Amino acid sequence: MKLHEVVVVDFFGDYKESELMKDICSRFKLKRKPNYISASNEEELFRHAFEGNIPVILKGPTGCGKTRFVEHMAYTLDLPLITVSCHEDLTAGDLVGRYIFKGNETVWEDGPMTLAVRHGGICYLDEIVEARNDTTVIIHSLTDDRRLLYIDKTREVLRAHRDFMMVMSYNPGYQNVMKELKHSTRQRFMSLVFDHPGVGIEQRIISSETGLDDEMSLKLARMGEKIRNLKGFGLTEGVSSRLLVYAGRLIKSGISPSEACRVAAAQSLTDDVHMVESILDIVRLFWVDGECASGVKPE
Ligand SMILES: Nc1ncnc2c1ncn2[C@@H]1O[C@H](COP(=O)(O)OP(=O)(O)OP(=O)(O)O)[C@@H](O)[C@H]1O
Ligand SMILES: [Mg+2]
Repeated sequence: MKLHEVVVVDFFGDYKESELMKDICSRFKLKRKPNYISASNEEELFRHAFEGNIPVILKGPTGCGKTRFVEHMAYTLDLPLITVSCHEDLTAGDLVGRYIFKGNETVWEDGPMTLAVRHGGICYLDEIVEARNDTTVIIHSLTDDRRLLYIDKTREVLRAHRDFMMVMSYNPGYQNVMKELKHSTRQRFMSLVFDHPGVGIEQRIISSETGLDDEMSLKLARMGEKIRNLKGFGLTEGVSSRLLVYAGRLIKSGISPSEACRVAAAQSLTDDVHMVESILDIVRLFWVDGECASGVKPE
């Protein structure tokens, strides 16, 4: 039998109630509400994309909240979230599935993408530019109006569940020319662009993620903004919210702010000793060496 002779299989209705569906949902649904501070209207846009069957690309620098946003939306829309971290050796089989030996039998096991297509949910391909082109091509039929997944090995053609959504993310600054997304892929998605937040939003992110008070969180956010100004002047990437949150957690646990910013920001951002010194100069604008979180200065 050839692929095109295979009947398209629809999974609607009944699956929702089945034991299998309940199992999938409990494995991949988020148990707790993720903390997400919204920067703009990205939640509304994502919701409309889901309702309109539009695949979404999230672009933005590392640590600016892309993964947290998908988790938040999966929780809000009550959908399972199936995440795949893409890399050069990722094959189509890793996404779609493979035959495995179980007991004395060879049985088919759905891959992460097939699970989401069959049972509904968000399939999140993280760092998609790392994947090889032959891997990205299998998503083409899923991300246009057909919404079909061709599985050569089982000779199935699956029509995506109505709750299936494809989301990819990438960091536009990092990939080399060879790894740019092909137009035939990128023009199947709408794009939500993420960036480092402004000081007000960053303060809320830091305080909600670390438990630091508003004043301390504001200082970290303002310091982050100043460090980001060094980008292009010897610093290839600005400090991420992730690193500022790390610094905040260290401070909250009793490490002095200057020490926390040295290990969680300055030394993580660069190996260049002069650049580290420039970042530490910025840190000193906000905190005296050895000063503790309560503001007590060293003797
Ligand atoms: N909007 C936000 N609300 C709450 N926390 C945030 C937000 N943005 C960033 N963070 C904090 O920064 C951390 C990093 O965010 P996240 O993992 O989502 O980044 P990312 O954009 O997916 O990075 P990468 O490209 O490296 O995967 C989170 O764990 C969280 O602590
Ligand atoms: Mg991420």
